[in-house]
Amino acid sequence: MSELLIDVRGLRHTYMPGTPFASIALDGVDFRLESGETVGVVGSTGAGKSTLLQHLNGLYRPQEGEVHVLGRDLRDPGQDLREVRRSVGLVFQRPEQQIFSQYVGDDVAYGPRLLGLAGEALRERVRWAMDLVGLGFLDYKDRLTWTLSGGEQRKAALAGVLALQPRVLILDEPTAGLDPQARLGLLDDLRRLRAEGLALVVASHNMEDIALLADRLYVLQGGRVALEGPARQVLSQGERLRALGLDAPPVVNLLQALRDLGVSVGGDSLTLDEAEEALAAWLDGRRSP
Ligand SMILES: Nc1ncnc2c1ncn2[C@@H]1O[C@H](COP(=O)(O)OP(=O)(O)O)[C@@H](O)[C@H]1O
Ligand SMILES: [Mg+2]
Repeated sequence: MSELLIDVRGLRHTYMPGTPFASIALDGVDFRLESGETVGVVGSTGAGKSTLLQHLNGLYRPQEGEVHVLGRDLRDPGQDLREVRRSVGLVFQRPEQQIFSQYVGDDVAYGPRLLGLAGEALRERVRWAMDLVGLGFLDYKDRLTWTLSGGEQRKAALAGVLALQPRVLILDEPTAGLDPQARLGLLDDLRRLRAEGLALVVASHNMEDIALLADRLYVLQGGRVALEGPARQVLSQGERLRALGLDAPPVVNLLQALRDLGVSVGGDSLTLDEAEEALAAWLDGRRSP
């Protein structure tokens, strides 16, 4: 049975309130995450994605509205937010913002060490987290963090968060700035974590990434939820997405262009693999009338 892990209602957030620079980043957002789900948060730059994500692990307390995380009401000033931050891991947009140590192994150990792990238990936890993201423990533990490539840095940051064994993993623009191979590697890691049952929240403006990962989507615009629903349903609305400053995944646009040319390819493919199947089915249909 699925369990409601995060429940956000009517959340508002203003940066620098009460000053001439006040800016409303969230303007009444409702958001839910159930166990086992991967939820995408999409929207153009400035839509409020990062601000929302930082509420989900207690980095911000709600100014207005409600945020419930794993049964804790984050409005309650007596609530210990450390437990929330441990259970809900947040990988920042720029991984260098969360690399604390000179050596990769120490960096991944940073969080679990603060939790009190030491000795062999700590070593095993670090090994487990590094293996999970494909940074082989023996190969990488003594590497200097600043010598890692962009993709490896992001994996090290991800391993550092996973080492806390969170129940929810939140990633802000996880593939931004990665080269194509590193991007595919990271997406593979995330799909593996999802398959293992970890609940994920992924903010991105890369609709292809979202198509490959998300079950359900929230589209933000100007701090409000402009559109939400199953990923397949939201991503097939090309016109609507373009009006919100986004676009459908390239595959959706390609198949639409083919249909406009009279190719009666069916289905609602979101990914290249799905499109390949749909096109093969269309070809088969033509060969055997
Ligand atoms: N630290 C901050 N101080 C002031 N304004 C901010 C700050 N962070 C974000 N904002 C503003 O809040 C709005 C939402 O930003 P953000 O949540 O970063 O959106 P996104 O992640 O979708 O690009 C934007 O208008 C942005 O300029
Ligand atoms: Mg952002």
